[in-house]
Amino acid sequence: MRDVVVAANWKMHTTPADAGELARTIASRTREPGVTRVICPPYVCLAAVGAALADADPDVAVGAQNIHHELAGAFTGEIAAPMLEGLATWVIVGHSERRRDAAETDELIGRKLGRATDAGLRPILCVGEQLSERETGRATDVVDAQLRGALAGHDPVEMTAHGLVIAYEPVWAIGTGRNATGADAAAMAETIRASLSTLGWADGADVVPILYGGSVTSANIGAFLAEPSIDGALVGGASLKPDEMAGIVARAAITARARGLAG
Ligand code: 13P
Repeated sequence: MRDVVVAANWKMHTTPADAGELARTIASRTREPGVTRVICPPYVCLAAVGAALADADPDVAVGAQNIHHELAGAFTGEIAAPMLEGLATWVIVGHSERRRDAAETDELIGRKLGRATDAGLRPILCVGEQLSERETGRATDVVDAQLRGALAGHDPVEMTAHGLVIAYEPVWAIGTGRNATGADAAAMAETIRASLSTLGWADGADVVPILYGGSVTSANIGAFLAEPSIDGALVGGASLKPDEMAGIVARAAITARARGLAG
């Protein structure tokens, strides 16, 4: 059975001085059986968050928000996957904000995926269409192409063994307060699983967790988790608020129990 995952993407928020305390508070407010929790702070806060969680609740994993596609070299300001050893066990790859701001291509994102798994990091691959693409009926083609581009050349068995997670984040729903419907997200999850099957994931429909991301809150998470094809959420703005995280993870725990994951 697939994990139920709630991953917090703190984006460019928090400092080393305050991140540990926020992580500690979120950890203590989200202790629910069966839900895999991940906090992805900025790089400079990884150590503080890791130290706080080791003390408060080692079950909460730490993730990075990005890695470079090379192992080392003259890449000023960048962070390579092996540098995260001891700091993170998960990594977000291909977030739409990086596709937009750092011109990341599917091919580049695919290389990052390989670096992530080589370094033993569990990757969350983000995909999602722009508003204009949805409005012109191209959403599924766009997401399918993103998956094909990023996963080309990767061995499905190896990716699955490394715990690949896919986050469907429609760009028009990120930070806008305008979330997709549960049915929209579920339909795209089915598309994603169909794409995985054609890419060689024989059991693609069953093994890869698919998260929804885009203006997720404690008030709307239920609409997504009511869909059997959705396995959790990648949460942005609301993930900085302990009350919101408590509500989101509490709802995820209901799904985990229903799926027999709560032990
Ligand atoms: P918001 O939840 O702020 O819309 O952000 C979603 C997101 O981009 C998570 O990666």
